[in-house]
Amino acid sequence: MAARKRATSTTDTSTAKPVPTDSKIEHKTQEFADPPLAPPKSAFIFKLSLLLLAPYFYLLFCHYKIQHELKRSILINAALSLAGFFLTVKMIPVASRYVLRRNLFGYDINKKGTPQGTIKVPESLGIVVGIVFLVLAIIFQYFNFTADSNWLVEYNAALACICFMTLLGFVDDVLDVPWRVKLLLPSIAALPLLMAYAGHTTIVIPKPLIPYVGHDVLDLGWLYKLYMGLLAVFCTNSINIHAGINGLEVGQTVVIASAILIHNIMQIGASVDPEYQQAHGFSIYLTQPLLATSMALLSYNWYPSSVFVGDTYTYFAGMTMAVVGILGHFSETLLIFFLPQVINFLLSLPQLSGYVYCPRHRLPRFDPQTGLLTGTNDGTVVNVYLRIFGRKSEKSLCAHLLLVQVELKSNASCPERQLPLSLDAAMDQLINLIFGKT
Ligand code: UD1
Ligand code: MG
Repeated sequence: MAARKRATSTTDTSTAKPVPTDSKIEHKTQEFADPPLAPPKSAFIFKLSLLLLAPYFYLLFCHYKIQHELKRSILINAALSLAGFFLTVKMIPVASRYVLRRNLFGYDINKKGTPQGTIKVPESLGIVVGIVFLVLAIIFQYFNFTADSNWLVEYNAALACICFMTLLGFVDDVLDVPWRVKLLLPSIAALPLLMAYAGHTTIVIPKPLIPYVGHDVLDLGWLYKLYMGLLAVFCTNSINIHAGINGLEVGQTVVIASAILIHNIMQIGASVDPEYQQAHGFSIYLTQPLLATSMALLSYNWYPSSVFVGDTYTYFAGMTMAVVGILGHFSETLLIFFLPQVINFLLSLPQLSGYVYCPRHRLPRFDPQTGLLTGTNDGTVVNVYLRIFGRKSEKSLCAHLLLVQVELKSNASCPERQLPLSLDAAMDQLINLIFGKT
């Protein structure tokens, strides 16, 4: 069952108006008919940013001595990203009116049976994030002060992939592409980087896996390009299928992006090799705008969602993180940050492969009387989590799943981490403060 409704000849009032004045009146009427978008949840975003970004800025400013030029580029990129955040916050209500006018909306399935479940929620607002991100990433090239410009080839190929993926995501939102075709779209979008890539073809084996592989570095040769293509397919689809709960699509991206930033800054701080530092620098230049623009989208998409992100966003975010991992040469570590998504993918395999029946939406069952969600038998982390830990409200479930991602990420990036008990307790309090009563 597709919840999204597309324009039909009878409902599409914005076309076939021969007289321009009529068309203007029509649009005016439509504007009055659409209820205004709920304001962004700014206080929540502020607190979440504090939790996710405090360690990153601490490492950047206090812990490591980062080379002046590199730090300058990172800070200019951060300033651009902040501007992108405010621009995205401003643009989303405007774009929402336009997508609603074209009947691009969805019904909130986890509110079915309540008045909220009958509201048309604007879809595909990821398009705003994608456009603002690309503008920032293109403008930033002017401010990067690297001595040689060889990096521009791969940087622009990466941008072409992200742009191509955003386009295909939007096409999917508009045309509702069949599931098997969806799976393949990212391998097409990854072509620009696959063709332009001339970097090394080795992967660094994460420490816990070295005893099993036998080497700390593995040269994949031509197989590396295949690996890059598969990584793009995995990152995009795994974000897209760990979804369906208000805030989950953007929330998981925001958590992974902040993990990527911390990882990059730690690698830059610990290395003296300028080329290695530059590779991680590029990854920061793409991740900061991703995080900032995604935060802006989350301010509207957090429970109760006033906009939906669409496959435009899930594909865009997944592809951005995939190219960031490839250009930064840490795709193996990236997969550790994607651990909940890997588990969700494995749980989904029987349904994705067609071995078990796969409904259009694999979401939990909502009880309008209690407002709680119950896990179904569909193979997703969302359902399994509910089946193990019991029924939860949608907001509580999303906060839990994101905290699991934060916790896994902290343990994965720093397994030897031994937080003093008092600091752990302080973290718990901070989490309560941010998500409220979950
Ligand atoms: C993927 C999942 C599907 C899940 C859907 C939700 C697989 C194979 N597919 O499909 O099981 O139901 O994502 O995004 O795992 N929606 C909500 N609340 C939200 C977000 C979305 O109710 O917080 C609903 C809305 O009706 C929205 C629709 O999901 O219109 C969007 O679904 P879409 O992204 O098109 O689904 P898929 O990506 O195909
Ligand atoms: Mg989707």
